Amino acid sequence: MIDDKSNSDTDETLGHKVWSALQKYRLDSENRQSTALLQQKAQFLVDEMGLENWIRKGGLNLENLSKFLDPYLRHSNHLHHPGFIGHQVAVPHVGASIADMIHGVINNPMAVYEMGPTAAVIERVIVNWMLEKIGWFSGANLTDFTDNADHGGGVLTHGGSLANLTALLAARAAHFPDSWENGVPDNLGVIVPTASHYSMARAISISGMGAQASCHAPVDELNVLRPEKLQQTFDQATDQGREVFMVVANACATATGLYDPIDEIADFCESNNLWLHIDGAHGASALLSKNRRGLLKGIARADSVIWDAHKMLRTSALCAGVLFRQQKHLAQTFSQEEDYIAFGNTEYGFDAGTFTVECTKAHLGTKLFWVLAMEGEQGLSDFVEKQYFDTKEFYNLINSEPDFECPYEPQSNILCFRYLPFPHEQQVELRKKVLEHGNFYITSASIGKKSYLRLAVMNPLTTMQTIKNLLDEIRTCAKLL
Ligand SMILES: Cc1ncc(COP(=O)(O)O)c(C=O)c1O
Repeated sequence: MIDDKSNSDTDETLGHKVWSALQKYRLDSENRQSTALLQQKAQFLVDEMGLENWIRKGGLNLENLSKFLDPYLRHSNHLHHPGFIGHQVAVPHVGASIADMIHGVINNPMAVYEMGPTAAVIERVIVNWMLEKIGWFSGANLTDFTDNADHGGGVLTHGGSLANLTALLAARAAHFPDSWENGVPDNLGVIVPTASHYSMARAISISGMGAQASCHAPVDELNVLRPEKLQQTFDQATDQGREVFMVVANACATATGLYDPIDEIADFCESNNLWLHIDGAHGASALLSKNRRGLLKGIARADSVIWDAHKMLRTSALCAGVLFRQQKHLAQTFSQEEDYIAFGNTEYGFDAGTFTVECTKAHLGTKLFWVLAMEGEQGLSDFVEKQYFDTKEFYNLINSEPDFECPYEPQSNILCFRYLPFPHEQQVELRKKVLEHGNFYITSASIGKKSYLRLAVMNPLTTMQTIKNLLDEIRTCAKLL
């Protein structure tokens, strides 16, 4: 029987017990008492966790909690393990974990102000903070909520993919305002680098333009966009009857971590009246680093930027900013009205829901707020700086080994390399073998037709020694193939 009233003693003890288990999980992961990931077949996991039984009979409680929680945690991917150097997913800061816990209790989905006033205000402040880093906010302080055409605007969404889609819809609304009412013409064009995240191609298809709307941007052998060739691509697409209205630049590219030259691309977009979108899901965090900010030179000249806090800003998944140089683009994207509507203002606050695909939306900004509130801006800047710096050191190490090679010097914390005795085609197989040992979680990437092993150095505990151990592990695994 469901008793909806909280039993404060039991709930509190349950809460403590779960938190202690999580704390142990985290410490064990950090101290390598667990594996990074030991993959198991789905059916095995179902049995280990006793899923069928729990669902049919219920009865999960304080006494039998570990029957479920232990296998659940044991078989998870241990992001806090120093050998987790895989996907671009943050090792979450404890502040973000606490914010998730609070949301899980108060459940204030805040896209409608009155449903989550505190979280709504925090999101607005966090958006102002992100805008400020780009150079799109000139308020006296972050709590300046005045509508101002000179300020940028933005919202937080559940992930970079949704953020890319939102930016594309905004560009479409700006260039083809009646597409909301009448649909899109069948000859639109978007110049996109091949190395763009697949969410961009998806967004183009979802938005009804058809996959043919993607015009491949000219790139070099590392898939970095070549701005000097953009005019040629644009002219060719125009000659073929395409109406190109947008250019996408990567900052940085998912596979390689390399940045497209934004300033030069902005020159081209300005002279051709094209919307410039920067996919900074991963790399916009370099804005916090005084030594790396230059990689994003020209970003303030873009029309839209996306920026995932759940990558380099240490929040749990998800927390992505979709940010516009001009506030009006927020209002126009999801509206039949062409008039500028002030920032969703209500009598008390603002309804961000007007500006997103989502209706019920979690308190995403609160997670980043907690990280900032505990670490301060300087703490987060130091983190980004260190990960970028360490990656360069790891590159130096790997490249100095006679049996390894890196195809380029990293610009960010993403690093590709390969075990030289094996051909490109066998690097993926090698990765699989490394994963089977459970000490490391790494990924692979293709650049052109060549495959590489790939690291995203997101983990504060990954050190030079970790990388030396990884290289030894790779050598051991190679012998087994
Ligand atoms: C450059 C880039 N853009 C967009 C995305 C999609 O972001 P999300 O996974 O938050 O949907 C990613 C994910 O890795 C990415 O690397």
